[in-house]
Amino acid sequence: MTIKKILITGAAGYLAGFIIERLRPKYELTLTDRVELPSDRQDLPFVPGDITAYMDIEKACEGQDAVVHLVALVRERFDKPLRLFADVMVKGTWNVAEACAQQGVKRLVNISSISACNPPPDSDLPYCVGDPFQFGQGDLSYALAKYLGEEIGRAYHQAYGLSVIHLRPGVIAEDGLNPGPTTPKAPKEPWFVYVDPRDVAQAVERALEKREVAYSAYNVVAGRCDSRFDWAQTCQDLGYQPEYNWPEIPDMEGTE
Ligand SMILES: NC(=O)c1ccc[n+]([C@@H]2O[C@H](COP(=O)([O-])OP(=O)(O)OC[C@H]3O[C@@H](n4cnc5c(N)ncnc54)[C@H](O)[C@@H]3O)[C@@H](O)[C@H]2O)c1
Repeated sequence: MTIKKILITGAAGYLAGFIIERLRPKYELTLTDRVELPSDRQDLPFVPGDITAYMDIEKACEGQDAVVHLVALVRERFDKPLRLFADVMVKGTWNVAEACAQQGVKRLVNISSISACNPPPDSDLPYCVGDPFQFGQGDLSYALAKYLGEEIGRAYHQAYGLSVIHLRPGVIAEDGLNPGPTTPKAPKEPWFVYVDPRDVAQAVERALEKREVAYSAYNVVAGRCDSRFDWAQTCQDLGYQPEYNWPEIPDMEGTE
């Protein structure tokens, strides 16, 4: 599988900026979003489009080897109705997967979230991909839409052989919604849920490069002993080596 041409969806967004910066020296990037691009990426080919409109996304997928899918309702999501999550995140991801299958795209890197599968109370931590999970009322529309997005990717992998890697970033500090981490007074269990966007970009590059993995999901979090979500599997399978790990915040003792 040779990957040269990559489409980035949600390319005007915050995380996309770090991914574009990381990938642009090595790959031919095409960007798509429904809004205008920031000036730092206006030199790259741009296909404007709405992810909920199938023909927009199929056109953007033409001739692409891989797609990095970032569109979601993120900072603006909290007062939004359920139908918008269904449209933008579920139908949007479905459109992307169908367009990949129709256009012969080889690999889809789907930016999911640790919210897709939340560890139930009293579960063993760190939470590993595949462990039992439990939805809660808080932010349910987002969590469920992320989960369903992964299931869509699984279905297209099974039905069409589309290679799909879901990356589940932790909380991206300083993204305009989430402040940076502050140490809890007396943490009783692994609590650290953050990741630096430059490490997410590293994970995306590794996911694009890893030919041997045809389908999987990986947590993408800081490389710490007190991370609530396991990152060792991501390290082992993709070669992910998180570099920005908040060394000024002490790791919990006894969680190694
Ligand atoms: N920010 C975080 O803490 C965090 C954590 C885990 C996962 N993620 C995931 O990372 C991805 C990117 O997040 P971000 O922080 O960069 O968000 P962002 O809001 O900055 O980027 C999302 C982009 O999607 C675009 N978009 C929204 N609706 C669209 C539509 N209908 N058609 C086309 N484009 C549309 C927006 O214009 C925006 O540019 C998302 O999938 C998000 O769920 C983010």
